[in-house]
Amino acid sequence: SQSVLTEYLDFSIDLAKQAGAMIKEGVDKRMAGSGSIMAKYSNPSDMVTETDQAVEAFVKEKISAAYPSHKFIGEETFAAGEKPSFTDEPTWIVDPIDGTTNFIHGYPFVAISIGLTINKVPVVGVIYNPLLNELYSAADGQGAFLNQTTKLPLFDTNAIAPLKDLSECLVMTEMGSDRSSAVISRKIDAIHNLVASKEDPGVRSVIQNAVGTQVHSIRSTGSAALNLCCVAKGVADIFWEIGCWEWDVCAAVVILREAGGIVLDGLVPGDKEVNIFCRRYLGIRPTGDRESQLNIARKFWSVVP
Ligand code: IPD
Repeated sequence: SQSVLTEYLDFSIDLAKQAGAMIKEGVDKRMAGSGSIMAKYSNPSDMVTETDQAVEAFVKEKISAAYPSHKFIGEETFAAGEKPSFTDEPTWIVDPIDGTTNFIHGYPFVAISIGLTINKVPVVGVIYNPLLNELYSAADGQGAFLNQTTKLPLFDTNAIAPLKDLSECLVMTEMGSDRSSAVISRKIDAIHNLVASKEDPGVRSVIQNAVGTQVHSIRSTGSAALNLCCVAKGVADIFWEIGCWEWDVCAAVVILREAGGIVLDGLVPGDKEVNIFCRRYLGIRPTGDRESQLNIARKFWSVVP
């Protein structure tokens, strides 16, 4: 019921603030020259720090103390080899630091992401960036908020025209940590098709079916969760990424959906809400007009090679 969701939401907000303080302290320490960095899966672009591990251990402990029967899926627990099955039970899906690369560099888009699913549906989401002091939160049916008081999106959906064409869109995407050439070529080819001139789409002849759509531009914060929050705010129109994980998007899916946006499969056309485990995501900003969102999604899928 709504009151149970409110309890989970309040709990998550409180927890995110405590975890955020640990992250902020970790960034301060790094800026002072301490703190170690380890590579995950022997991939030098996929990194983990002692703060990721400490924050996840802290959050996991707090959740199991408050809700002993609930399940937990976390980025670092997963990396350590625990691969729990996903069930209908309440399941907390947590990324202790989304934007680990930013954390390492002190680039200020770093967030804790706490999501909760019930019956496999994401129903509570809290994302907190302690460096910019921005807290995004949402629970199913209760709307999405910035710092608990400002309703998302930041604009009045009735006052703004629905999305018409990709050429009017600001698109967020990421290089990500999967550097296999299959994933990277697909991303680069998609970015080419998005950015290239409409008049001269075939200039990079290696790309088959090159389609210049000349979007306004491409942006990346370095955190999939915070990219989706930009789309929920309405300051960007589209988020697309393949290769990121359920903990990067679980909380953000609730925030974007409650703001009036949609999250679909990043590669497979269809109008069903995304399966958060599919590792390919397409988020469209709030418009007040679902058909215009689906229309933009269809155009987007046609651009991805
Ligand atoms: C990463 C960030 C990044 C995205 C990667 C994610 P992490 O999460 O969200 O923006 O491009 O795919 O893995 O490793 O910083 O938690």
